[in-house]
Amino acid sequence: MLSIVRQAADTVSSIFAPVSTPAAKEADLAKFVLLLSAVVFVVVAGLIAYSVMRFRAPVREQGSEPPQVYGSAQVEAAWTAVPLIIIIVLMLATGRVIHEIQAAPQPPNAIEVTVVGRQWWWEIRYPKLGVVTANELHVPVSDSLTRRPTFLTLESADVVHSFWVPRVAGKTDLIPNRTNRMWVEPHEPGTYLGQCAEYCGTQHTLMLLRIVAEAPEQFARWVEQQRQTAALAPAEPVAAAGRRVFLGTVCASCHTVAGTAANGRYGPDLTHLMSRATIGAGVAPSTQERLRAWVRNPNDLKNGVLMPAMQIDDEYLDQLVTYLLTLR
Ligand code: CUA
Repeated sequence: MLSIVRQAADTVSSIFAPVSTPAAKEADLAKFVLLLSAVVFVVVAGLIAYSVMRFRAPVREQGSEPPQVYGSAQVEAAWTAVPLIIIIVLMLATGRVIHEIQAAPQPPNAIEVTVVGRQWWWEIRYPKLGVVTANELHVPVSDSLTRRPTFLTLESADVVHSFWVPRVAGKTDLIPNRTNRMWVEPHEPGTYLGQCAEYCGTQHTLMLLRIVAEAPEQFARWVEQQRQTAALAPAEPVAAAGRRVFLGTVCASCHTVAGTAANGRYGPDLTHLMSRATIGAGVAPSTQERLRAWVRNPNDLKNGVLMPAMQIDDEYLDQLVTYLLTLR
């Protein structure tokens, strides 16, 4: 079995370890609801346990009917009013958090990102910054002086997916022919793991996602680097041959490499392929060996993936992989 890439630093993906404004509000609400439910549970279970022990019928009375009690306005009013108050409290608390998150105005300096769910990877576009990438969402962190939230527009190219990075924000679905919105605002730099949270086909479980939250200067450098087009033909002859293989096969009709004739939009943009930590939406680390295995037959790593095995000879495959490794 293949192992899913998990780096030591970012294995925590609990909603109770929030690092971002919406996730923190949701975690506080979840704790409040759990606490209130725990109190209700303890009181109800305690009363039942007490009644069972205290009012157990003595052996000599067994066989005769216990005393029957018909109605008590006070008791009935109490057990109607108390749950009603609890429900109203839960409703108001939940409504407040939903409102605070959904109605949050977008500040003028917010980063705008469009995320398109696809079987089975994430297309990530920064329309105003001219950046296109996949599976790895880079965002700046906010600090106590400056807020730098990122507002996401969520779309789907095929079926319903759900964007979920537990430490950063709650789930939001990506629905065909519909636009959903959400926002994130991490306060701590780090790489946070997430994954698709709505069954979307055979490789739903391997539709992984990571959010890289970084200091604003670092984020600006990342944007600058991602905006570059790929270098023209690499000087190194094997890589240059690989580029010809890439542009001369159907690779180019599904993938884009900015600065070349390859401008397909069906598969992930490969202009900066090697700047991403994983390939195949998280199935394997971006290493030469795994990349070669992936291009040789993606089904070996991710059964059911829509990218076909290209059936190319080993020599061309080596050239192609050598070229892909230059896309940084
Ligand atoms: Cu996409 Cu599940």
